[in-house]
Amino acid sequence: MAKQRTFIMAKPDAVQRNLIGEIMQRFERKGFHLIGAKLMNVPRELAEEHYAEHKEKPFFGELVDFITSGAVFAMVWEGENVIATARNMMGKTNPAEAAPGTIRGDFGISMGMNIIHGSDAPETAEREIKLWFKEDELHVYEKTINKWI
Ligand code: PPS
Repeated sequence: MAKQRTFIMAKPDAVQRNLIGEIMQRFERKGFHLIGAKLMNVPRELAEEHYAEHKEKPFFGELVDFITSGAVFAMVWEGENVIATARNMMGKTNPAEAAPGTIRGDFGISMGMNIIHGSDAPETAEREIKLWFKEDELHVYEKTINKWI
């Protein structure tokens, strides 16, 4: 399996509940590499574009309102099979159904306030990374000290 990249976003509920470190620690400890990250307020147009496939859903307005309601922490993680593995680590979309031990199972409250977003497939990951990050905001790096660490 080749290296993949995925787009992960800590939603406003995660940021306001001080869960950024907890989320990042889980991905770091799993062995994935952080190659891009930024704390940002989301322009409405960006939120609408990101969730464009759900435009006709009844919850679309509520979803865009929520994502633009406060800062989010946007990230790009790299690693083997990272797209599917990250989705497993996140747990089911509905926190009430997400297994304990998953991020949503441990911290999520509702379908709206479900802590985290992660790309669901390689094509989605490519689209979302391009939408949220400029090329020069992604940093690929080699270990230059104590290569065994
Ligand atoms: S669907 O209908 O199965 O395609 O939708 P789903 O994949 O379950 O959810 C798509 C994203 O919409 C969010 N969502 C909601 N937000 C607010 N209110 C309600 N009722 C709601 N239902 C779904 C859900 O969290 C998904 O967002 P992401 O960021 O991808 O997790």
